[in-house]
Amino acid sequence: MKLPNGPQIPALLQMVRWITNPMSFMEACAKRYGEIFTIRLEKDSPPMVIVSNPQALQQILTNDTKELEAPGEMNDVFEFLLGKHSLITISGAEHQRQRQLLMPPFHGERMRNYSQVITDVTQKVISQYQIGKPFNIRSATQAITMRVIMQAVFGLHEGLRAEKLQQILGEILEKASSRLIVTLLFFPALQRDFGPINFWGKQMRRQQEADKLIYEEIRERREQPDSSRTDILSLLMAAKDEAGQPMTDEELRDELITLLVAGHETTATALAWAFYWIHKLPSVRQKLLQELDSLGNHPDPGMIFKLPYLNAVCSETLRIYPVGILTFPRVVRKPFSLGAYELEPDTVLVGSIYLAHHREDIYPEPKQFKPERFLERQFSPYEYLPFGGGARRCIGLAFALLEMKLALATILSSLELELVDNGEVRPKRRGLVTGPDRPIQMVVTSQRQVKSPILQTSTV
Ligand code: HEM
Repeated sequence: MKLPNGPQIPALLQMVRWITNPMSFMEACAKRYGEIFTIRLEKDSPPMVIVSNPQALQQILTNDTKELEAPGEMNDVFEFLLGKHSLITISGAEHQRQRQLLMPPFHGERMRNYSQVITDVTQKVISQYQIGKPFNIRSATQAITMRVIMQAVFGLHEGLRAEKLQQILGEILEKASSRLIVTLLFFPALQRDFGPINFWGKQMRRQQEADKLIYEEIRERREQPDSSRTDILSLLMAAKDEAGQPMTDEELRDELITLLVAGHETTATALAWAFYWIHKLPSVRQKLLQELDSLGNHPDPGMIFKLPYLNAVCSETLRIYPVGILTFPRVVRKPFSLGAYELEPDTVLVGSIYLAHHREDIYPEPKQFKPERFLERQFSPYEYLPFGGGARRCIGLAFALLEMKLALATILSSLELELVDNGEVRPKRRGLVTGPDRPIQMVVTSQRQVKSPILQTSTV
């Protein structure tokens, strides 16, 4: 058997469904054609095979032969923002080299520094919320994750340049979530600068402003090196590849933007979903508070990180509505057998994280939010993959989970929150991530009696 079956409607209509509601499109296809199906988004472009079967996902994500490749060109929809040298838009040996340079700041000892940043920033942001005054929880979590990633990356969160950069990036990302921009991303011919009234042109000009600030920062650091700094930019500027070569300014700019974008919107959205579920389901909130309170005053971040129910709540949040619904694409380079199918070169393979997480056989009642499933059994990395897998697995996984857990613990231990309305919130494509389809309004009803919830000095 050659290609898996799939919808026969014209490619343009498939593209429209893919842009407007990829989750319902994938669900409809899976229902009709099964766990591996083919879609076509452009008339003459190669077919795209969508996979949610765990064995097939394993076969794809662990394939390090020359049959499959995870080429950065396939991610060129992100190039307008991230640049040509971003980890996300490069491939092969260049990708491996950059990954090696980028990984150390996201591992081991380094993570200890971030615990303090996360709890400090979270406390600062929530201190602005007043009892009885509703606020959008996603704006609150965005404020937290933006400041945290800015500080982790640059080691500066105060100061004019940092403030300007935060503001511009916030605007760029907000615009990037609009349906218009998403549509432009899929139709590159429309990505033109038609002058100041043009939407795409405006977006590009904001980006140039952000670039200018980043290059200024890099230049200043080169002129006044400070070996005591431990922020990610300093580590990257000092890093050398196997040939002893450091990163160029352009590479640094692209990787910094990549980390700011990938590390901000994703975790903010995941946190917003977590607050929604915790307050939508009183029994979840109660169990979580019991667990957090059991640590007493001034708990250690390492203890918080290991709490089983908190971990289960975060895992279930990333299962039910994963913020990244797809793995990055792989392309068949040599004929490749996938189960009963023989795939020709140029066929594109994409893992559907969303469909994999909604399999009835693995997650009974998949539409229900049930953290307990993560206490009752362990899932394989191909059944549960909110951070993707293989050569392109998310490098910020540990950072994101640390941030989610510490921000949740800090806020839930300090404030009593409520959802303003109990209506259902559905997932929707929002530019680069999948987030809530409407603002989730919350309100602080009172302070909890915990003065300094998290001890600042320990390891994670
Ligand atoms: C809840 C938060 C996050 C989620 C759900 C998430 C999810 C993902 C997913 C699904 C991928 C694609 C993996 C694949 O195709 O196999 C990815 C890649 C990536 N993520 Fe994350 N991510 C999160 C947070 C972060 C953070 C905090 C950072 C950095 C500070 C980050 C940086 C990256 C980068 C650089 C890549 C590209 C890796 C590569 O191409 O080699 N992410 N992420």
